[in-house]
Parts: sequence; C-alpha cells; structure tokens
Amino acid sequence: MKDSVFQGRSLLAEKDFTRAELEFLIDFSEHLKDLKKRGIPHHYLEGKNIALLFEKTSTRTRAAFTTASIDLGAHPEYLGKNDIQLGKKESVEDTAKVLGSMFDGIEFRGFSQRVVEQLAEFSGVPVWNGLTDEWHPTQMIADFLTIQENFGKLEGLTVTYVGDGRNNVANSLLVTGSILGVNMRIVSPKSLFPTDEIVNLAQGFAKETGAKILITDDPKTGVAGSDVLYTDVWVSMGEEDKFEERIKLLKPYQINMDLVRATGKENMIVLHCLPAFHDTETVYGEEMKERFGVTEMEITDEVFRSKYARQFDQAENRMHSIKAIMAATLGNLYIPKV
Ligand code: CP
Ligand code: NVA
Repeated sequence: MKDSVFQGRSLLAEKDFTRAELEFLIDFSEHLKDLKKRGIPHHYLEGKNIALLFEKTSTRTRAAFTTASIDLGAHPEYLGKNDIQLGKKESVEDTAKVLGSMFDGIEFRGFSQRVVEQLAEFSGVPVWNGLTDEWHPTQMIADFLTIQENFGKLEGLTVTYVGDGRNNVANSLLVTGSILGVNMRIVSPKSLFPTDEIVNLAQGFAKETGAKILITDDPKTGVAGSDVLYTDVWVSMGEEDKFEERIKLLKPYQINMDLVRATGKENMIVLHCLPAFHDTETVYGEEMKERFGVTEMEITDEVFRSKYARQFDQAENRMHSIKAIMAATLGNLYIPKV
C-alpha cells in the first residue's frame, strides 16, 4: 500500500502543512471524536510506544497525549524534565537517537523550537510539538475543530485574538488561520505585536487563500464583526517575572462583556486555550489580587461562564485532535487523497 502524505511526518509547526492537510486533520479529529462517543474502537497504533517529554508543565496536552495514546492502543511513557538527561547531561542529538531506537513517536513540550526540530532530525520517528516558545500546533487542530463545530465552516469567518499578540498561541493562530482561509486579527498593544517574520509568513499564506489579516492596538475596532474572540494568558510559561508590566499593559485588552458586545455579533463564541486567570482560585490569581488588586486578568469570570464560552469543548477536542495527528503520522492509515 502506498504511504499516505502523513506517514512518518512530524508536526513541528503549522507552516509545514498545506491547507488540505490541515483540513484533513481537523475532519479526521471530528471522525475520531464520533468513534469515541459511540464506543467504537480505533486501535490504529496497537503495540507502539510513545514518549512524552515535558520541560514545561501541562494539564491538557499531557492528559490528551496520554489518553489518546491509550485509545489508539499505544503505550505512553511520561518523561518529565527531572526524569531524563536531556540537555543537562546529554545532548539533544544523542537523546533523540536513543529515544528513537525505543519509541515509535515522541511528543515534546519545552522552550526552544530548535530542540523539537533536533529531536525530529535525529530520532528517525515522528515528533509532535506539544508547545514551544514559538508555536503550539497541536492546539490549533483542536481550536479550528471547535470553530468548525460551531459554525459548520471555517472559510470566511473572522477570528480575533486579543491579548499578548506575540506568544506561541497567537503566532500559531495567525499562521494557521491564514492557511485555512480564515480572516485573522491580532489585537494587542504595539509592544506585543507579532514579529514581522510571523506577519509576513501569515500574509504569504493569506494571499493564496484570500484570508484578511489585521494587526491593531485598538480593541473596539479590532473586535468589530468578529465571529470568534480568542485569548490566552498575559504571562506565558517562562515569563513569570513579567506579571506587573503585563497587567498594566494588557488591562484594556481584557475580554469582558463590553468587548463581547463590541463584536456586534450575537452568535459569536469565545475561546481560550486554558489555563485561564478568570478568578482568584489559583496561587497566581491570589497573588495578583494582593499585589495589584486585580481579580480577573485576560478574561472576566462573567465571560468565562457565559453562553458564548467554548473553552471546555476546546479542551476536550485536544484529545480527539492529538489522536488524529498521531494516527495520521504513525498509523499506516489508508488516506487516499489530501
Ligand atoms: N492548552 C494547553 O496546552 O494546556 P496545558 O498547558 O494544560 O497543556
Ligand atoms: N501561552 C501559554 C499557553 C499555555 C497553553 C504559555 O506558553 O504558557
């Protein structure tokens, strides 16, 4: 049987995949979600071993890779940053060669995009980027699946990311949406605009797909006409010393009911990749209340619990989409045409 276009490939960044390939992964996620709901087995990775490397912490990505591996018949093995030699006592190249000789696929979450690229280069097995400082590609398949579930389509919708416009999730959304023909907007203070490199990349794709791109620091005009408002934490993992400056800078970019109304769309939805600071029920949330008097950050509790919010569907979809990514790239599946 001829290999599919996915077999043996890594998912390091969305830009490496075509529109048709990303659309296939989204649709395949929907199919696997349906199989799961109906209790129909889908052991496409029977007998395979999957390494889960985490330099940074995770709830959703770790849980999704673990349960998706098990549902696919594979064995997941969690290797945390204090469990293995990676980077400290052994080079990424040497670690990759060893892991590639024992595991059939490797997930990596960490700081450097270079590390995930080296793992792919030297392991000889598919490597899936579970988030780096630059990109969060597995998140995107879940996010656009959630959008498709709500609107029945992707092309022509307007998705607006509000907040820290140059973090991993913002980068990934801007580029992925542009590939998919979705109008993408980034609304953030000028000092947190995405880099020219990312904007140029997105504009290149947008030219092919007809997606419209807008980068602005004006929240009200930026969100007008949006079908989806998306936000993420103001301080990403590894930047924990920046809470004070980000709270000052990003307060006008909080997703609250005024901003939701400013979209002018009643059937709009709100997304958040999670975890979210929508109350003070966390260590950081409590600390920020004491230090700066804020009880909510990037999204208000009112919006988080409103009829517009879809963040928990999005979180569940991480599992179905990670399953699709792993099965497509490692499962020897018959995928006739993409
Ligand atoms: N959205 C996301 O990646 O969540 P975790 O950090 O919990 O994995
Ligand atoms: N931008 C966030 C995403 C968490 C899923 C971070 O990197 O911490």
